[in-house]
Amino acid sequence: MNLKNFNLAPLYAIDQEWALLTAGKKEKFNSMTISWGGLGTIWNKPVVIAYVRPNRYTYEFMENNEYFTMSFYDEEYRKDLAILGSKSGRDLDKIALTKLTPEFLEKSISFKEAKLTLVCKKIYFQDMDITNVNIEQSEKERLYNTEPMHRMYIGEVVEIIDKRVK
Ligand SMILES: Cc1cc2nc3c(=O)[nH]c(=O)nc-3n(C[C@H](O)[C@H](O)[C@H](O)COP(=O)(O)O)c2cc1C
Repeated sequence: MNLKNFNLAPLYAIDQEWALLTAGKKEKFNSMTISWGGLGTIWNKPVVIAYVRPNRYTYEFMENNEYFTMSFYDEEYRKDLAILGSKSGRDLDKIALTKLTPEFLEKSISFKEAKLTLVCKKIYFQDMDITNVNIEQSEKERLYNTEPMHRMYIGEVVEIIDKRVK
């Protein structure tokens, strides 16, 4: 893959603008909002990193599919990302509550409104270990006292669909 012209400020894009993580098949898929994650390199491959708690419905789709997408949106879709980040696909058709239109790709699924989609092949996962987390104790407790630890997924970026004006 030619990454020469690919440009993204990942800290800002993921942390501030948020993204969608989507996995599944045409018949059944799910999306959730993420604001933790990363882009980088390992094993000489361009990769994304996502952190998913096992109680998310999206987790089941991450587990059961070889591919997933990380997709990025303009500010006008913030409300839709807030919906997908606060309701569970387990309880209702939350995508129907948004303006987003599923786009079925060869290997996975994104949305027509995405300005950028990274199609990723799952190449690694690992459950985060609380004993190795070296952040403020209060923050550790706030994040993990009542909710389970995240599973980290590394996905090789196998396709970039970039609709941003260059
Ligand atoms: C801005 C924002 C960022 C989020 N980031 C993450 C994340 O990185 N990992 C995670 O497991 N959940 C994250 N969530 C929570 C999930 O998006 C949320 O629990 C969602 O309702 C899960 O949907 P699902 O059950 O359909 O998978 C985030 C939520 C919001 C609003």
